[in-house]
Amino acid sequence: MPQHSKLTSQIAILGAGDVGATIAYSLIMNPVAGEILLVDPKEEVRDAQVQDLSDATFHGDTSTRVRSGTHKEAGQCDIVVIAAGAKQKKGESRTDLIGRNKSILESAIGDMKPFRQDTILVLVANPVDVLTYFAQQYSGLPKAQVIGSGTFLDSARLRGILASKAEVAAGSIDAYVLGEHGETQFVAWSLASIGGVPLLQALPPGVKLDKEAVAEETRNKASIIIENKGATNYGIGGVAASICKSILTDQRNVRPVSHYQKGLDVCLSIPAVLGRRGIVRTVDVPLSDEEKGLLGKSAKALRDVIDA
Ligand code: 2OP
Repeated sequence: MPQHSKLTSQIAILGAGDVGATIAYSLIMNPVAGEILLVDPKEEVRDAQVQDLSDATFHGDTSTRVRSGTHKEAGQCDIVVIAAGAKQKKGESRTDLIGRNKSILESAIGDMKPFRQDTILVLVANPVDVLTYFAQQYSGLPKAQVIGSGTFLDSARLRGILASKAEVAAGSIDAYVLGEHGETQFVAWSLASIGGVPLLQALPPGVKLDKEAVAEETRNKASIIIENKGATNYGIGGVAASICKSILTDQRNVRPVSHYQKGLDVCLSIPAVLGRRGIVRTVDVPLSDEEKGLLGKSAKALRDVIDA
């Protein structure tokens, strides 16, 4: 007989729009928490999302339950996913959202305080790297407990593109987009591999790779989706749920997530080990000199947004 243990953890999701609701849906389909709390000042939308999401829990295969919650309750949850804020309109960049989303973040964190000591904040609202930096300041939580989804989503997009060229499963490709979740992101080609073999040597005979084109397709994927359907939600939903699972089950997965870089004094994505305490450690990846330069440029661009 399989052993059934009751899931007891709680995850709060701030923001009951499409992104918040899709994260909740991913967490219902891959249950890791006993309860999901949706928090949003727009009570009617929040409660309607709770009712609709609850309908997805009643068929019997998930023990996760969904309910409406307050900011104060969120501050006592194991994880708070912050999806509250404006989203990009057509033609807008992620950094264009800073003015609106920074003040929403500051007031939401104020409303959640005091936090439970071991609460982990997972930022997904944009510009995610800058908001992760400010969330560390506003919350006063240890920096390892405040994480942004960062380029985990871009890395998943990259793996998807490479998978179709290499004709292997995306999960068998080890390739990272690093730096800013935005314009200055870069592909760390020097680290990319399939089955331990450097990527370019592991491609099927006759397949050529235009690295610039692949990097550009990866970087532009969100804008193209936004152009055609107004927003992205499923990609980030899956990625945020995966981060929550790594944390709650202390999985120690290596993920390119946004976290504090002491030497650079910004948050950006470098592969890190994820566990119950958040960032267990940064993986010291041996970037090429060119990639180190690109990481520096990404850090400078983020610092400029923080200072502005
Ligand atoms: C994304 O990359 C818009 O940041 C969001 O899907």
